[in-house]
Amino acid sequence: MLDLRDPPHLPLIAPSILSADFARLGEDAGHILSVGADLLHLDVMDGHFAPNLTMGPALCGCVRNALPDAFLDVHLMVRDPGMFVEPFATSGANHMTFHAEVLIPDHCIDLAATVRQLGMTAGLAINPQTPIEPLAGLLPHFDMILVMSVQPGFSGQAFMPEVLCKTRAVRALLRPNQRLEMDGGITPTNIAGVRDAGCDVIVAATAIFGQPKALRAGVVNALRRP
Ligand code: DX5
Ligand code: ZN
Repeated sequence: MLDLRDPPHLPLIAPSILSADFARLGEDAGHILSVGADLLHLDVMDGHFAPNLTMGPALCGCVRNALPDAFLDVHLMVRDPGMFVEPFATSGANHMTFHAEVLIPDHCIDLAATVRQLGMTAGLAINPQTPIEPLAGLLPHFDMILVMSVQPGFSGQAFMPEVLCKTRAVRALLRPNQRLEMDGGITPTNIAGVRDAGCDVIVAATAIFGQPKALRAGVVNALRRP
């Protein structure tokens, strides 16, 4: 099983199943792994932190049962992430990211410890408008930092290039064994800037699942080797 803390840091391609066919989820998710994707990204929204409802622990458990070897990266866009850590852990999540905007810093550190106690790696996400400077002291406590390049809520939004400057600043603060993930609006056209800013985990929903199956391997390769 993949471990986000392991070197070498080749870029990992993380299709977001938010744009998969939910009626054929096991097949769609299995296919994208079979053509070269490294892990699956699960976008969880509660209708409060983000204006959408997407998926919960039961769906995560179904993906785990269908794909026992898949690495499942759960991105909690919810107002109360502590409520969901254990349910997703017991549903087979390997990694859990929650948002800095919903907790005070001490609680972020405590929740990261809880995530690890339950056998997962821990991630901290920030929205496009959230500055990094006040959060710098939190970064050492996480295995991965996620910089949003769209406002949380929906796949298919336009990439926000203004986040790249902040992303470079985040990379400069990370240890070599910490990952930097970017999520939102990423395509083969803008991936070079994302990689150049130091990102090594690349989330994409529309760019991958918006293509016919026969073209998806090409997109995964284009995202990995711009
Ligand atoms: C946005 C989600 C993203 C999004 C990515 O709220 O966190 O993962 O679904 O979708 P695309 O790649 O279509 O922007
Ligand atoms: Zn996401």
